[in-house]
Amino acid sequence: MNQILITSALPYANGYIHLGHLAGAYLPADIYARYLRLSGKKVLYVCGSDEHGVAITISAEKENTTPEKIIDKYHFANYEAFQKFGMSFDIYSRTSIEEHHQIALEFFADFLRKGHLVEKEEEQFFDPKANMFLPDRYVEGICPNCGSDKARGDQCDSCGAYYNQIELKNPRSIITGETPEVRKTTHWYFKFQNFQKFLENYIESHSQDWKDNVLQQSRSWLKLGLTERAITRDLLWGVKLEKITDIPREKTAGKALYVWFDAVLGYISATKVWARNTLKNEEEYANWWKNPETDYYAFIGKDNIVFHTLIFPAMLYAREDGYILPKNVPANEFLNLEGQKFSKSRNWSIDLQDFLNDFPEPHFVDVLRYSLLMNLPEQRDADFTWKDFQTKNNSELAAIFGNFINRTSQFLSKNFNSSIPEIDLELLLEWKQVVNYLDDTYSANIDNSSCDGFSAKLLNNNDLLLIYSIWYGIEKSKFYLNKFRLKEAFFEIMNIARAANKYFNDEAPWKSIKENPLLAAKTLNFCIQVANTLSITLAPVIPFACEKLQESFGRKPETGSSNNAVPVENLWDKSKFPTIASGTKFELKQVLFPIIEDKTIELQISKLGMQPDNNSNVVDVSNLMSIDDFRKIELRTAKVIEAERVAKAEKLLKLQIQIGEENRQLVAGIAKYYDPSEIIGKTIVVVANLQPAKLFGIESQGMLLAAKTSDGRLSLITTMEPNFPSGAEIS
Ligand code: 2FM
Ligand code: ZN
Repeated sequence: MNQILITSALPYANGYIHLGHLAGAYLPADIYARYLRLSGKKVLYVCGSDEHGVAITISAEKENTTPEKIIDKYHFANYEAFQKFGMSFDIYSRTSIEEHHQIALEFFADFLRKGHLVEKEEEQFFDPKANMFLPDRYVEGICPNCGSDKARGDQCDSCGAYYNQIELKNPRSIITGETPEVRKTTHWYFKFQNFQKFLENYIESHSQDWKDNVLQQSRSWLKLGLTERAITRDLLWGVKLEKITDIPREKTAGKALYVWFDAVLGYISATKVWARNTLKNEEEYANWWKNPETDYYAFIGKDNIVFHTLIFPAMLYAREDGYILPKNVPANEFLNLEGQKFSKSRNWSIDLQDFLNDFPEPHFVDVLRYSLLMNLPEQRDADFTWKDFQTKNNSELAAIFGNFINRTSQFLSKNFNSSIPEIDLELLLEWKQVVNYLDDTYSANIDNSSCDGFSAKLLNNNDLLLIYSIWYGIEKSKFYLNKFRLKEAFFEIMNIARAANKYFNDEAPWKSIKENPLLAAKTLNFCIQVANTLSITLAPVIPFACEKLQESFGRKPETGSSNNAVPVENLWDKSKFPTIASGTKFELKQVLFPIIEDKTIELQISKLGMQPDNNSNVVDVSNLMSIDDFRKIELRTAKVIEAERVAKAEKLLKLQIQIGEENRQLVAGIAKYYDPSEIIGKTIVVVANLQPAKLFGIESQGMLLAAKTSDGRLSLITTMEPNFPSGAEIS
């Protein structure tokens, strides 16, 4: 392979990206792209916003605005969030741009000329009250396949089936809630069946290298037999058909391309924009899309499979213009959140923006990337939990990787003035010989590898084990990465960090620095070499920490970020070797991964499901407050020490209370319901952090809680236990 083209599914620009989206189609692609770039490959990573279709127009109606405003709002917001999460796109384009419309129409016109399209009058749902046809999501009903009652007009989210909308049972218009009529309308249909044989061969040619879920879905479609599919809609938003001059205007008026027909072409239009911006020649896009030397990988979530394995390939093939096809479509299953499906309307979701608001420092993004990676729904649905996020930080990133880097940095600072100690060059040479030996002997057979056949002159057993662990981790990670098994790949890389900690322990430089300083120098030199290895090999997952680490070596960081397809050297393989020169300064000013406390995690868990989604009309939020607001109120138990009536104020009692060690005065409007003697000695509940106020000239330093009955009577809130201690926090 000469060059690699990577795409991530273009997200609809009608909402914010949440962690489930990130784990499905973006993070895996970014990790893969960064890995390839660090391996010296020429990579182009393309993404952008999907800005057409009913998803957008419905959002515009809900937010009482225009589709243009919706796509601008979400395109820029999502792009910014993606950048903050380190997505290394070479281009983040959008489908509303002119270039995109042109390409989509060019495909349509070409298919029309070649006879791959057929014009048909068909029945569609029509809402007479709204006076419009109801394409796709404008109609909901019962899925003809699985019976789910939330099925959309074009697709069922529960079972993933795609059908003709009039097959939907109990249809209702989402605009008026009415049962729609069935009316005739003309549309253009892609003769998908023309490509049945071609697609069967294409899918079977990948029976060994594609994931099972991808093969299964594709095969089951093929088994049912491909049929004509409508690729236009009665819609005023999208790629308008009016520009197609081969069809009379009166037929194309009010028609737009079906969003999926143009969305997949967004990858190509984005590449054109990239070529124009970067190479000053948009025709260079063909060097990627029509070049057999390109390996193309399309990263998606499982709900997009057939569009990328069948429909898009059929479209590319049908052009007969040298377009390449996806070499793999690594589709992920879904990620759940704390055991439940992501749901914006129930606020069971974490948008990237929410995360960034609460965790603005980049190392938290790294923690999230790492914990999502280790929970990737590669084979089956997976679960993100805050507790696991904390564990991945505290027990892995901090305890294994961060700990190794910290102890190395501190030891260097204390004993070597933060400078990489000079060592016998023969030692470094022998390290290289071990790697060469392993490469020559075991590259094709990593699982049987060992250093047993290498006779070392200077290196001790600890050194050999360390070098072997580095070599094995790097080789094995390549094996897994080439199979898109990302979790396993980086588990192997973390094993290098585990081996590095073991090396530090076994070499015990805190002892040798006194008894044999040369040995301590070697240990620390080697520790720095492996720190460097980790700064490259963990960079695809935790790019922000690795950037900091590499900067601490005083060099330009390489974390596999976008390089406009200009390859760097193969740093992945180079990381098996020691490359950091002695004398190099290494000083880390901050701990890379500070411990995440329980209370941080508890707060996040308590937030889930608490704040309704802004866009949802399901819950009236006007009288709800957030858990954060509630937490501002400090409620405590208090003991009433004294109580007396207030002269000339028949409703008020003046109380002296004790909150733990503290004495306070309170004025309360309970004199009509309680005699002072009744309440002395009682444990009541007070708001302890209220600004003091004056009532009848008497300062009240807090407020007691009482329940009011419907006839206006007040009853003090007290504790069940009569002598319950005062000052206890109520939550
Ligand atoms: O499911 C979605 O969010 C679609 N917008 C994905 C489109 S992928 C590609 F075709 F652009
Ligand atoms: Zn269904």
